[in-house]
Amino acid sequence: MSTSRNHGGRPGRRAVVVAAGAASVAAVLAACGKQKESGGSSEVKPSNSGTSGSGTRLTRTADIPEGGGKVFPDRGVVVTQPKAGEFKAFSSTCTHHGCTVASVSDGTIDCPCHGSKFDAATGAVAHGPATKPLPTRKISVSGGSITLTP
Ligand code: FES
Repeated sequence: MSTSRNHGGRPGRRAVVVAAGAASVAAVLAACGKQKESGGSSEVKPSNSGTSGSGTRLTRTADIPEGGGKVFPDRGVVVTQPKAGEFKAFSSTCTHHGCTVASVSDGTIDCPCHGSKFDAATGAVAHGPATKPLPTRKISVSGGSITLTP
């Protein structure tokens, strides 16, 4: 009689393989987009002439008649010169129903839609039906240029 002993030697090991296959792509591209500048000359670019901020050049002072003004519909602004060398700017959107003012004459900024008139020096209502003044816009005047500032 032979007794066979079955040795149930199961491998109780667990082979856990953590497949850290996360290929962490840490390719940081320093995309500065620098363009190669030619030479080392001290060339001055007049991109912000006259203002320290980001203004939009609007017109020349010579283009604004003394005692009158000019409407810039695409800029939403009207610039006036009530007195020699004194420039003012206002929104060109009428405070009545939102038409764009059309002209400056006889000291007023005139809206063609319903006849409102605004004082060219202050933007105040000079003639209704508008009841609110034209909001002022900031401009800077330098070197014969008028710049619309934010
Ligand atoms: Fe200007 Fe009415 S919208 S007067």
